[in-house]
Amino acid sequence: MSQATNQSWGGRFSEPTDAFVARFTASVNFDQRLAPQDIQGSIAHATMLARVGVLTDDERDAIINGLNEIQGEIERGEFNWSVPLEDVHMNIEARLTEKIGITGKKLHTGRSRNDQVATDIRLFMRDEIDVIEVELKRLREGMIELADREAETIMPGFTHLQTAQPVTFGHHILAWQEMLARDHERLLDCRKRVNVMPLGAAALAGTTYPIDRHVTAELLGFDRPTENSLDAVSDRDFAIEFTSFASILLMHLSRMSEELVLWTSAQFNFIDLPDRFCTGSSIMPQKKNPDVPELVRGKTGRVYGHLMSLLTLMKSQPLAYNKDNQEDKEPLFDAVDTVRDCLKAFADMVPAIEPKKASMYEAARRGFSTATDLADYLVRKGVAFRDAHEIVGQSVAYGLKTEKDLSEMSLDELKQFSDTIEQDVFEVLTLEGSVAARNHIGGTAPNQVRAAAQRAREALVALKVGA
Ligand code: ARG
Repeated sequence: MSQATNQSWGGRFSEPTDAFVARFTASVNFDQRLAPQDIQGSIAHATMLARVGVLTDDERDAIINGLNEIQGEIERGEFNWSVPLEDVHMNIEARLTEKIGITGKKLHTGRSRNDQVATDIRLFMRDEIDVIEVELKRLREGMIELADREAETIMPGFTHLQTAQPVTFGHHILAWQEMLARDHERLLDCRKRVNVMPLGAAALAGTTYPIDRHVTAELLGFDRPTENSLDAVSDRDFAIEFTSFASILLMHLSRMSEELVLWTSAQFNFIDLPDRFCTGSSIMPQKKNPDVPELVRGKTGRVYGHLMSLLTLMKSQPLAYNKDNQEDKEPLFDAVDTVRDCLKAFADMVPAIEPKKASMYEAARRGFSTATDLADYLVRKGVAFRDAHEIVGQSVAYGLKTEKDLSEMSLDELKQFSDTIEQDVFEVLTLEGSVAARNHIGGTAPNQVRAAAQRAREALVALKVGA
């Protein structure tokens, strides 16, 4: 198919579209991805038109059968996409008319491509959000179970990437899970604003046909029709909102990725990632590279880019529809694909993380990670915190000189710095004592981690789409 003048709007034109302009303005090469939603929307539109008497039942049936056949042609790869027909909408409509004749031309009654494309993208986004939500849930579940399993595993906690205080590995994983819990809420919140139906807004002002938008909205599973026709055809907030959810999520995944990369290094040696998530080097036979987290970290950049693209695309656009909006699809499609794939990779990988407990424990034992516990011990014995800080500082300096951790010093060695120190100090200087003492909601104590994992499980079950 390659007629020189587009039949859908060629009536007022006196010369064919310039061949380059036709290619430049066409979107079919990428928006054909919206075909299933376009057909779904058209079937609902035709059904509604018949219900209000604008189409006969026979016309409706011919349209619906034709569209279902076209869906099959597309799925089987038999559909002949035409660039001169510009976009997915006109390609499908032209094929429908080819198949069922003049009735096919009635489908577009009371509708414009402007409300049609806005509807298609929202249907697409809703479908994709639901797929993404499944992966996000799976990842959160995997983290909660890993955290529960590792509630007692001790590792060093860091600030400034310097050893700070011992924490439990389960506590660390639950910190990741908290980030994702907020992302999950953002996703479900975004879905509420996605699931509103623009169809019926027509080009910009609505239509003179006696349409029933509630019927179409219900047929398509939308919560309600949009309130304002001008806004309906031009709003792309929902795409910006999704991409901003995606950017924050990828920012979180990039932080987790960075830690996984560090932890798998020989220098940290905190975890092992199974071979199936890693690749080798073509030159260095000993290498096992954490490609999956590295790639997730890298892909964060393109999603931030898509957010900037969409924000800038919408900036200063006057009402109502502008062709600019055709540029919303590629960033959105790529953001959707990237988020889904990164979540899948993480959901598969996280339950397979193998902590190297002895190595983590050893790292926590180095670096005076119980120094704060010694200070707190002195405070409990009546020493002012600032003085306690000074005493512990001197003990650490001694430990550096003698290459001893605080827990490895004798009582006499410790007593050089404060007489207040007694035999019971060794209970607080152990790593187990240190983490167990942080026994409050949000703390790193193993029993708190288990309780937090249980609460997280319950919160995940309670989360409802549209809540
Ligand atoms: N391909 C167009 C888009 O993606 C569809 C809407 C075209 N509307 C128009 N008035 N030219 O935005």
